[in-house]
Amino acid sequence: MAVPLFATSLDRQLPALTERLAAVARGGRYILGPEVEAFERELADFLGVRHAIGVGNGTDALMIALRAVGVEAGDEVVCPSFTFYATAEAVAAIGAVPVFCDVDPQTMCMTAATVRAAITPRTKALVAVHLFGNVAPMAELRELGLPVVEDAAQATGARLGGARAGALGDAATFSFFPSKNLPCLGDGGAITTDDDDVAAAVRRLRFHGSDDKKTFVDVGYNSRLDELQAAVLRVLLPELDGWNSARRAAADTYTREGLGEHVDLPVDVDGAEHVHHLYVVRSERADELAAALGERGIGARAYYRTPIHRQPAMAGFAPEGLSLPGTDEVARTHLALPMGPELTADQVREVVAACASG
Ligand SMILES: Cc1ncc(COP(=O)(O)O)c(C=O)c1O
Repeated sequence: MAVPLFATSLDRQLPALTERLAAVARGGRYILGPEVEAFERELADFLGVRHAIGVGNGTDALMIALRAVGVEAGDEVVCPSFTFYATAEAVAAIGAVPVFCDVDPQTMCMTAATVRAAITPRTKALVAVHLFGNVAPMAELRELGLPVVEDAAQATGARLGGARAGALGDAATFSFFPSKNLPCLGDGGAITTDDDDVAAAVRRLRFHGSDDKKTFVDVGYNSRLDELQAAVLRVLLPELDGWNSARRAAADTYTREGLGEHVDLPVDVDGAEHVHHLYVVRSERADELAAALGERGIGARAYYRTPIHRQPAMAGFAPEGLSLPGTDEVARTHLALPMGPELTADQVREVVAACASG
């Protein structure tokens, strides 16, 4: 039985989506209109924050959020090296300096200890990445006393100690890229915050550094969530908790079916309700296993074999001798296995059986 890496589908929502898209097309408001405004309110309520602001994508969201919390050119920002490239790229793209910290190879998230090792007198902020749907240990990170931007691109709907990812830092960023837990039909992103000043700065930066479209007080961006994408997100947001529960149930099935006898299973951060954007295990035989699964039609792939501090574009930000042993270990051993709200128990058993014989 073939098992896709992404067990998701929007088939059930397609009639509602096409109806809403047609309504927006007919309505003639395409930029920063009623759909974006309504989605921003609905997302803020869902996450339990004062403000949610739609932007063009999760990468712009990071650049804008970092600037809105006060990061300026030349400031150091601590971020993990084991994450999608955009996390560090956004820091460098605003003229700031990414300083790479290690991750706990079990949770694949940064910790207070790994961040502390990267802090210098020039550190202005840190980016806490909620990788693969886990939630970074925000309480201990906040105790470091620096502004924290959550990169929640992979963790929409996740919780830590009852509060949602996106409500745990000074600001948070989301991506609605089509493979994400809350997808749209193209690019989309958002920034959340409880701070009115940060929210005002975000709204200004997403529209060319202007509050009134006449006076330009900042060099900003043209980065807005489209009305069409906001309409899609309004249809899909009510599905998110159900989808995330199904992902968690599939993860539990992997555990029950004995996958842990063959690979190291994902580990939740203490108190986190992981939403398994990707289901990422660890194995010293990860590449061999991926090839064996591939032969049986089962999707499996590594995401970040080369961590960011070893990427060519980041050479200037990776000092000689930088040692990130947790990052190197997890970069070498991680492997994403099939996951998604539609993954069935039979498919899980097929993957486990393939891992047992692979
Ligand atoms: C951790 C992380 N940060 C940032 C991004 C950037 O989001 P986008 O692709 O919407 O720009 C992504 C997703 O691609 C991501 O996974």
